[in-house]
Amino acid sequence: MDSIIVRGNGPLSGQIPIAGAKNACLALMPATLLSEEPLTLTNAPRLSDIRTMRQLLASLGAEVTELQEGKVLATSCHGAINPVADYDIVRKMRASNLVLGPLLARLGHAVVSLPGGCAIGARPMDIHIDALTALGAEIELKEGYLHAKTRGGLKGAVHEMRFASVGATENFLMAAVLAKGTSVLKNAAREPEIVDLAQCLRAMGAEIEGEGTSTITIQGVDRLHGATHPVVTDRIELGTYMLAPAICGGEVECLGGKIALVESFCEKLDAAGISVEETATGLKVKRKNGRVKAVDVVTEPFPGFPTDLQAQMMALLATAEGTSVLEEKIFENRFMHAPELMRMGARIEVHGGHATVHGVEKLKGAPVMATDLRASVSLILAGLAAEGETMVSRVYHLDRGYERVEEKLRAVGAHIERVQGE
Ligand code: EPZ
Repeated sequence: MDSIIVRGNGPLSGQIPIAGAKNACLALMPATLLSEEPLTLTNAPRLSDIRTMRQLLASLGAEVTELQEGKVLATSCHGAINPVADYDIVRKMRASNLVLGPLLARLGHAVVSLPGGCAIGARPMDIHIDALTALGAEIELKEGYLHAKTRGGLKGAVHEMRFASVGATENFLMAAVLAKGTSVLKNAAREPEIVDLAQCLRAMGAEIEGEGTSTITIQGVDRLHGATHPVVTDRIELGTYMLAPAICGGEVECLGGKIALVESFCEKLDAAGISVEETATGLKVKRKNGRVKAVDVVTEPFPGFPTDLQAQMMALLATAEGTSVLEEKIFENRFMHAPELMRMGARIEVHGGHATVHGVEKLKGAPVMATDLRASVSLILAGLAAEGETMVSRVYHLDRGYERVEEKLRAVGAHIERVQGE
């Protein structure tokens, strides 16, 4: 297993290009199951999770070809489709459950393994099941697999979700576009990745209104055609790299960034003494003056503060002036990075969904272990500002969601290198 070594090296400067969004691409790729015609995704990120989705789609009978070194994904699904999403692939990546809606819409039946829990939470699928059941699906759990079928296909319906789940909204959208009649989803998730999926489906001939709001209306159509769609910028990768100059000092421009993608995050950065300026090409980030100030953070569904930036924000607040309280409201177990930051000298108390961070002057390098995707990058950020050397192990977590992290950070002056594992 590879590790990454980081040495604190003072202020950073330069530009970091932000890739297409992992969490958008993982929803866009299954949309290929909805049509016999090709779907081409441009600005695709090159990540191990994207390769896992490619493997899953291939097992279902779809073709996914990487072009331009993986930045373009040519997908199509015109042959026979296997309705079974196997546990061996699904257990590697939860987002595999995003084939359930499209398979049901295309075939009228599907057998999809339940992904099971992960490091950050139990992650049940009850909201997905309720939403698809509202469209007329009959879903039964047998030996760890969801067996779903319809009688005469899916039918439009009005459904209100108990929580604005991102994945359930995406599954409902991809099911309702081919359902008979009109569907209305209330308390829908509003994330930019949802908007991106709706725009792609519309380019394929779907009739959708209201994406980005809490109420989405879908008029079912008989068939969808092919399309080409650019994957939206990765707002979580963007937020992560915006924190690099905030933690180390200096000035960095994140190319492709837009404030609209990270507004609530920028409000917290502003309160912490970090300036964010939108330029023609991206977002320029630097400290206003002196030490970062403590701020309180509560994670919420979009447009609230993203849970996927909570760990990285904790790394910033570990050396802030004063005490910050972070409340994690989305996942029940998403403070695994705290004990690792404490190995670097951070002062953090975790009680259930609250973490109290007493800022210290300086962190010290130490060997630390990545426990999940966002925790891993928060340790790298902390290492960039720490005295001495930090060795982050188990970075396979990182490769799931960040492409070429060492190159991107080295380009702005960081001391960072990957150590190949056995
Ligand atoms: C998406 O996960 C993202 N993943 C996550 O990013 C992100 O943290 C999350 O949305 C919230 O923003 C992808 O898009 C691939 P949810 P998803 O359904 O769809 C509970 C990363 O780091 N819930 O909105 O799984 C659930 O357990 C990843 O890139 C149910 O209880 O998130 C969680 O506590 C991590 N029942 C909460 O809702 C359900 O049926 C939010 O889940 C569904 C969800």
